[in-house]
Amino acid sequence: MRLLLTLVLLITNGVASGALAQDSLAYIEARKQIMKFVGGEMRRLGPMAQGRVDFNADIVQLSGQSLAVMASSYPLLFPPGTKSGGRTQAAPLIFDDPKGFAEKAAELRMAGELVQQAQSSEQFQRAFSSLAATCKSCHSQYRN
Ligand code: HEC
Repeated sequence: MRLLLTLVLLITNGVASGALAQDSLAYIEARKQIMKFVGGEMRRLGPMAQGRVDFNADIVQLSGQSLAVMASSYPLLFPPGTKSGGRTQAAPLIFDDPKGFAEKAAELRMAGELVQQAQSSEQFQRAFSSLAATCKSCHSQYRN
């Protein structure tokens, strides 16, 4: 988990400092990696949300935090000029409506924070369903 957070911070710092500027392929690869990590966190939490695995506050806290960190990086990962230049499913709407996209990313961040704060299985299950809803809501509009 620490390694993952370090990686996200490295990628986003690289992006923020302009080290990757104009390199469309680097942005596309970075955001797909981050999305894959997000998918991995969901697979880790899913069985717990379904009650197939016991609630574990430590895992939930770390996973929620890592989702929130990754969500914060989303708006940085789709600068103008990275619409194409690699295999990407990013919808053109992201670039036409960056504000709307950033709002969806903020919903994911807040849902991650809710998961992070869950103290009981019930709280976690509620937070997990709003978390899962944010994936669908963004993908349906902003992913091809
Ligand atoms: C703010 C919008 C947004 C939210 C919220 C969001 N995604 Fe995505 N996701 C995208 C976009 C855009 C892409 C396509 C990125 C690309 O191909 O450049 C994507 C791609 C993916 C991919 C494919 C990565 C690959 O290998 O190409 C996975 C897996 C994924 N998302 C999982 C999730 C999960 C799970 C959640 C919820 C926890 C989530 N996403 C929430 C916008 C979002």
